[in-house]
Amino acid sequence: MRLHHASPAAPAAPTHSAGRDLSAWRVADLQRDPRWVVALDDAVRTDLMRALRAGLSAGKSLLDYTQQDFDFAPQTLAPIARAVAEAEHGRGIALVEGLPRESVSPTEFELLTWAIGLHVGVARPQDKLSRYINQVKDVGAVYRSPTGRGYSSRAELDFHIDGADIVLLSCYNQAPSGGDSLCSSSVAAFRQLVAERPDLAALLEQPVAHSRQGEQAEGAPEFIQMPIYGRVGGEVFCQWNRNRIENGDKLPGAPRLGVQQREAMELLDEIVRRPEFMYSMRLKPGDMQILSNHTALHSRTEFHDHEAEDQKRLLYRLWLSTPGAPQLPSGWAPFWGSTEAGLLRGGIHGHHHDAHCQSFDRRQAQAMGLRLAS
Ligand SMILES: [Fe+2]
Repeated sequence: MRLHHASPAAPAAPTHSAGRDLSAWRVADLQRDPRWVVALDDAVRTDLMRALRAGLSAGKSLLDYTQQDFDFAPQTLAPIARAVAEAEHGRGIALVEGLPRESVSPTEFELLTWAIGLHVGVARPQDKLSRYINQVKDVGAVYRSPTGRGYSSRAELDFHIDGADIVLLSCYNQAPSGGDSLCSSSVAAFRQLVAERPDLAALLEQPVAHSRQGEQAEGAPEFIQMPIYGRVGGEVFCQWNRNRIENGDKLPGAPRLGVQQREAMELLDEIVRRPEFMYSMRLKPGDMQILSNHTALHSRTEFHDHEAEDQKRLLYRLWLSTPGAPQLPSGWAPFWGSTEAGLLRGGIHGHHHDAHCQSFDRRQAQAMGLRLAS
């Protein structure tokens, strides 16, 4: 595959309307036009490590770092910005290859991921523990349990979205076998659904119960109701998370899924896994995948891990609210908080979203030019 190398200036992002069309990609589109892959060169790697080590402060909480702590050169940030623009306004998927990894410790690599995130958006909490960055690692979690989360297991996952505008996944170690990343365009899948079964496609625009997986605030409902697909003007967006819907369907008080709704969900899952829709890639140590959750779905294959603790599969995951993210369907407010563009949104606040977290949210939102919902 021919790759695009880092250049001093970030090219303009695709126009909004062209971007939405680009987001309806099929595998052949990604293979034909690899602009969604950005390879970093030695100069960028050197500058990333220079700024990282200059900014590192032992014992400092990630939430206390600011953009100014990591003074990456403009030509270092440019290829990363290009990849983010591709995820937000182009294909909905981007891959940055070649982050520094040799002689970089897991702690440094985590901080590097965080530092890049500080220049891209506002990190959002991801779970019951209100963690703003998560290790994607097998710690023996059971994905299918009522409170299970895929990132802590080694299981093959359903295609799904994560809970923020952008998910950024950087790879420190890959498993000896399995753990391949799978991506599929939810926009292309919807077009296919409409072409094959418009009656079922319409059902996916109706609200269904989503389990909160035990992450809700005390006393709050165990489920929320939202449609899987929604529209803003002529654009279609998706928030497909079958695990949460299957669990929601079992909760007391939740509306039960109908036979045709299940048929629609089965067809969606079947389409996104067809060879012409599902793109498979294997992240290497130093690779960083960037996805728009509004137009791209992701999954990964089951993996078998390394025996040695320091070689086990390990990725770092950031969820980001970003200034370039679009307005979302109004029916999605129960999860996103705000569906307006330009407002801080998304994430799972969990049970520990304290004053320290709120202070980070305010400071970083201001740095990124995002407003806080009143
Ligand atoms: Fe995910």
